[in-house]
Order: sequence, then C-alpha cells, then structure tokens
Amino acid sequence: MFRYHDGRLLCESVDLRQIAEVAGTPCYVYSAGSIRDRYREYDFAFRDLPHTICYAAKANSTLAVLHLLAELGSGFDIVSGGELYRVLKAGGDPSKIVFSGVGKTAAEIEFAIESGIHSFNCESEAELEIIDGLGAGRKVNVAIRVNPDVNAATHPYISTGLTAHKFGIDIRRAEHIYAHAARLPNLRAVGISCHIGSQMLDTAPMVEAARKILALVERLRAAGHQLRYMDLGGGLGIAYRPEESSPQIFRFVEPLYDELLAGGLEIFVEPGRSIVGAAGMLLTRVLYRKHTPSKEFVIVDAAMNDLIRPALYGSHHEILPLEQSEEVSVVDVVGPVCETGDFFARDRELAGARTGSLLAVAAVGAYGFAQSSNYNSRPRAAEVLVDGDHWRVVRERETFEDLTRGERV
Ligand code: LLP
Repeated sequence: MFRYHDGRLLCESVDLRQIAEVAGTPCYVYSAGSIRDRYREYDFAFRDLPHTICYAAKANSTLAVLHLLAELGSGFDIVSGGELYRVLKAGGDPSKIVFSGVGKTAAEIEFAIESGIHSFNCESEAELEIIDGLGAGRKVNVAIRVNPDVNAATHPYISTGLTAHKFGIDIRRAEHIYAHAARLPNLRAVGISCHIGSQMLDTAPMVEAARKILALVERLRAAGHQLRYMDLGGGLGIAYRPEESSPQIFRFVEPLYDELLAGGLEIFVEPGRSIVGAAGMLLTRVLYRKHTPSKEFVIVDAAMNDLIRPALYGSHHEILPLEQSEEVSVVDVVGPVCETGDFFARDRELAGARTGSLLAVAAVGAYGFAQSSNYNSRPRAAEVLVDGDHWRVVRERETFEDLTRGERV
C-alpha cells in the first residue's frame, strides 16, 4: 500500500508529500485498504470455523481506525474503560467485545457489564470474585486466561506466556479454578483464553500454546464444564526489517484448523499489530543536519514522544525519503527531545535526508500513536486516513491549549 511511483512515495494513490504539506509534520498516515486486507485475511483463514476477530484496540485506538474495523464486522479486545468508551463511540458492537487485562477496576467491570460486552478474560481468582459480585442477577460470560507456560521467543517486555509473567492463571491450576468459578452464581465460565506475547515471527509457539489449551479443554469437559468458546489471543508479528518476512496468518491457523473444528468451540482471536502495524507511516521533516567528530545526525521534527518503540524496545523501523534520491549517507536519525534515547535509527544508510526534506518512518500503525505522549510539552501529532485516492485528517494536531487542559495553577 506504500510504494514509490515516479520517485514519489505514495500511500494507496495519494502522494505523501501532499499530506505532509497540508496536514503538517509530524503526522501519522494510515492506509484503510491495508487494514481491510489484513482483517479479511484473518476472516478467510478461519473459513468455516465459527469465529470472531476481536481487533486489539490497544495497538491503535484512533476512532477512525476503530470505525473502519467496526464497519467490517470486527469485534474488539479492550483492556480499559477508556478503550470500551472509544470502541462504543466508534460504533463497535458490544456483543463482540472481550475485556482483557490483569487489573480491571470495579468501575470498569460495571461499565462493561452495563454495556453488554460479550465476555471478560479473567486473569486471577480475585477478579472472578469481583465480577461475580458486580454481576448480581445476571449471568456474566467469563473465560479464564490460562498461562500455558510457552516461551513466545520475543522481546522480554512483550512476552507474557511464562509463569514468571503477571498474566493469566497457571495452566496447572486451571481445573481447580474452573471448579471454583462453576460455584459462583453470577458467572458463566464458558470460555477459555490465552495470549503468550506479541511480535512473534515464528508461529510455532502460538500453535503449541493452542494445542495445550485444546488438551485442557478436553480435561475440563471430562470434568463436566460446558465450554463454548476459545480465545487464541493475538501476537502475530510483522516484518520491521527488509530481511524479515511477516508470518502469514493462515500459517498459524492451518496447522490447527482440523483440531479447532473437531473441538466444536467458537473461536476468538485478538490481533492488533498484524492488522494495523504495516498500515501506518509517520511523516517527519528534517530540521537540521549536524556533524560531531564521531557522528552525522539528522534531526527531525518527530521525536520519542511521537514514537517510543525504538527507545523502549530498541526496535527497528525502516526510514524512507518521500522523494527518492541517490544522495546516501550514514546517519543517526534523532528527534528534538532532550534525551540520548530519542532516536529513530542509528548508523543507518539513508537517502535523501537534506535539511527541509521529508521522511517516512515505516510500520508504525501499531503501538505508534497509541503510545505517544506530551513529553517535553510537545503536542501530539495529527493523524490521517487514506482510502484509495482520498485522504482526510482523522485527528487534529494538538494545540498548546490542549497541553494544559484540566490544569490549575
Ligand atoms: N491480547 C492481549 C491480551 C494482549 O496483551 C495483546 C498485546 C494483544 C492481544 C495484541 O497483541 P498483538 O497482536 O498486537 O501482538 N507496545 C508493544 C506491544 C505490546 C503488546 C501488548 N499486548 C510494542 O510496541 O511492540
């Protein structure tokens, strides 16, 4: 969806330079077509299995992105009252919402029950008790999030499936917990869920985790529990480097397909990054070039407050000039924030990075804007959605007044 044509970088049919000039920089740009394609790939991979794709709103919770997915019939995986508010505002169907997370507050749980969400993914016994207490007079669907003790082999900050992690309930205790849940009057423990980590380029650990859960489902059924659905979580990675390739969605589903069909459960999935990650770019303008005895810096107008992934996870993002150029140099691309950790690339061979020129940081549709902040009192960037040959600003750039909203001296 992003490609060069006549030396200019396009998103679908729109010249990104036009967007940068009208909407200003830094600016996030998303391709609607790319998001739709990835959603449909999931839908297609599950074919005849009864399934609901619950897009993980945390990856990108911009209303226009949520709305686009809601229109396709997507469900949503949420982790806070704020995400629930956004999804409902974007037109999401509450009956297709699952609520995950280790620290749901009573207020969030009540809001979700009142909104009529599909179910809660419960992460502890204490949480089961709280939901049971708040669900009085109703039967609230819950899935126990089981921690299958499978190593996701990804960055340690986004790996969640080992017993050393705060997530889920140890698989060895699951039968005991289901027995306990069955005695709670206001719950219906009819689901089971798992999520072992994010940015997995190898689908084998996801398949292994799903098999462990399927085996557990058999044991639970033998003990008399009526399980109806299974939530496989999210976690499928995307290619951030040119030498990487994005795992195909069907490669994760296909080895499990027959087992899942035989299990007779409705399937849920919670993909975030694999739906929106590759669909976004961050446009930024080169403010200065600067030499030191050991480095050549390209200082751009976007910073770690706009995109924290390189600083937080040491993650790699390709950087492309909006106009192709033969002028290549090895540089560090850095932002204006007062931290050495404020970088987008180090010792990178980069073309076309003259003062004043425009660059695009690639594959930032997931966990890009969603993790942005006002650090250094920088207003957050604008966001643009491209659809074919149309584009529109779907979030205005913040103003200085926005920065101090709600503050008192
Ligand atoms: N379900 C649950 C319960 C999750 O915790 C997550 C992500 C997902 C689904 C969606 O995972 P995905 O399909 O997007 O991998 N900020 C980090 C990623 C944090 C992921 C947190 N949980 C990053 O920028 O890489």
